[in-house]
Amino acid sequence: MSDASCRCFEPLPRDRWAEHPHFPSQVLLLGSHENFRRISKALLAAGVERRAGLSSAASLEARQRMFDQWQRSMRSHEHYEEHKLYPFLRHRFGVSTDPLERGHRTLHKIARDLRGAATEGEQARWAATMARFDVVLHEHLRDEEDLVIPCLLALEPREFNTYYHASIGELLATPSCGASLHG
Ligand SMILES: [Fe+2]
Ligand SMILES: [Fe+2]
Repeated sequence: MSDASCRCFEPLPRDRWAEHPHFPSQVLLLGSHENFRRISKALLAAGVERRAGLSSAASLEARQRMFDQWQRSMRSHEHYEEHKLYPFLRHRFGVSTDPLERGHRTLHKIARDLRGAATEGEQARWAATMARFDVVLHEHLRDEEDLVIPCLLALEPREFNTYYHASIGELLATPSCGASLHG
């Protein structure tokens, strides 16, 4: 791979992503992230309303059920990231995805705490833990987008198409910047 290709993930500020010719077709994960932010905010608001005594707010049990259902789709999103997107980006651009993987682990830990609060019927602890989850989720999504989006936008449509359809095994078998950078 040429040096010119290796340089192609130069930082691209967030406020310029939408002007890029490969936006939005190559950054569909932004849609999933917006959904995650919306669901997290809704669960957070329901927990606060319940603590304020609003009888229309969802019960703790119902909120935890919604959270668990949401987490199943988030886990499959993370599985895709950790088993295809991240290995590809490490290989193609030589970037580190360790902080992002740590972000997933931190979210899983808070999710376990949340489940514990629900099991013990602790409204206040549930709301405080949900607030913590929301903060860490927002930080993770921001950090992930800041690393991943400029890389995905930098791919020529033909290469993006190959990335999209090929298996990770096939992608890792092609020459890459990551390989050349790491000797
Ligand atoms: Fe992620
Ligand atoms: Fe993600």
